[in-house]
Amino acid sequence: MLVGVPKEIKRDEYRVALLPVGVEELTRAGHTVLVQRDAGLGSGILDEHYAEHGAKLVDTAAEIFGQAELVIKVKEPLPQEWPLLRPGQIVFTYFHFAADRKLTEAVLASGVTAVAYETLRDDQGRLPLLTPMSEVAGRMSIQEGAKYLERPQMGRGILLGGVPGVAPANITILGGGVVGANAAKVAAGFGADIGLLDVNMDRLRYLDDIMPPNVDCLFSDRHTVREQLKRADLVIGAVLIPGAKAPRLIEADDLRLMQPGSVIIDVAIDQGGCVATSRPTTHSEPTFIIDQVVHYCVTNMPGAVGRTSTYALCNVTLPWALQIANRGILPAAQTLRPIARAINIIDHEITNEAVAASFGLPYSPRFHPHAG
Ligand SMILES: NC(=O)c1ccc[n+]([C@@H]2O[C@H](COP(=O)([O-])OP(=O)(O)OC[C@H]3O[C@@H](n4cnc5c(N)ncnc54)[C@H](O)[C@@H]3O)[C@@H](O)[C@H]2O)c1
Repeated sequence: MLVGVPKEIKRDEYRVALLPVGVEELTRAGHTVLVQRDAGLGSGILDEHYAEHGAKLVDTAAEIFGQAELVIKVKEPLPQEWPLLRPGQIVFTYFHFAADRKLTEAVLASGVTAVAYETLRDDQGRLPLLTPMSEVAGRMSIQEGAKYLERPQMGRGILLGGVPGVAPANITILGGGVVGANAAKVAAGFGADIGLLDVNMDRLRYLDDIMPPNVDCLFSDRHTVREQLKRADLVIGAVLIPGAKAPRLIEADDLRLMQPGSVIIDVAIDQGGCVATSRPTTHSEPTFIIDQVVHYCVTNMPGAVGRTSTYALCNVTLPWALQIANRGILPAAQTLRPIARAINIIDHEITNEAVAASFGLPYSPRFHPHAG
């Protein structure tokens, strides 16, 4: 198959969809890989690294989309890329269709096969192409929290780990899933005192078994959240109800319980956020202050650590890209259920029920005939 990797053009996006080792694996399997010049620059990967591993470098996205049977990307195609999409072409990337009607209509009209990272679900119900980004965001949330707790950043002027004779910071983490557990792990390493809250008792039991002693695993209810806010220097919002808006755990009035200069990192902002006063921000202007509490609500946190994120993402996407390239999309979907679940649009039809329902558009159950 002819595989193409364009340069990402979305603002603040520094990732690239394939590493040189991916080029090598695909080429070894008999495929040809086109990479757009400078595609890897944001992640510190030079054109010559790709060329050394067998990529053919091309100058424009038009050449990639014009020739490739399988296009591997990171972010959804942007309006300037829509005219380049060709019928029958496979595009393997994050689409998040349900958030964007215009994108959905453009991809439907184009005739491409849209294979979405975010709906590639394994037989255990996990989303393996989302997990690494949650790992990145969870670990990064503590790094950002440490930064914004510094006085010049309007924080309380508190060092996460304290020093001998001075207590460490108190951190409250709302949600003990992938983001929350990764945040807790890093925060524990700093020596902070951590409250890790979840509503899932099985998850809490597991976390209680594996977390170090400076992490208290607590059941999340309104009383406990409010008690935590009184002592928290840093709050991490990491809750998720799959397919729904994030539950709101902190009301506007609750901010008054917090100390001036404390920091909230609302990682769940991409699902609406779990704090009433949160609103989406960008890497160029990541924070704002309400009631003397610093809010950090960047929707694409992994973008800032593009190199780590690229490697984390490519590690998990490459095996699936190889399956698609080796088998072809229909045989791959017939034998591998995760790939069938990842196909959102094919032959001008929506094959993901949630996406169709979001816009009241017709749904084709061709890959899920027995779904109930
Ligand atoms: N901002 C970013 O750049 C970025 C990056 C990655 C992930 N995210 C977001 O972070 C959020 C968390 O992702 P995840 O991968 O950790 O999800 P996850 O499903 O692994 O974990 C979510 C946890 O929240 C818990 N939960 C649900 N309701 C709760 C409540 N009322 N109180 C306490 N806990 C509750 C669940 O039991 C679950 O353990 C999601 O919204 C995700 O989209 C954002």
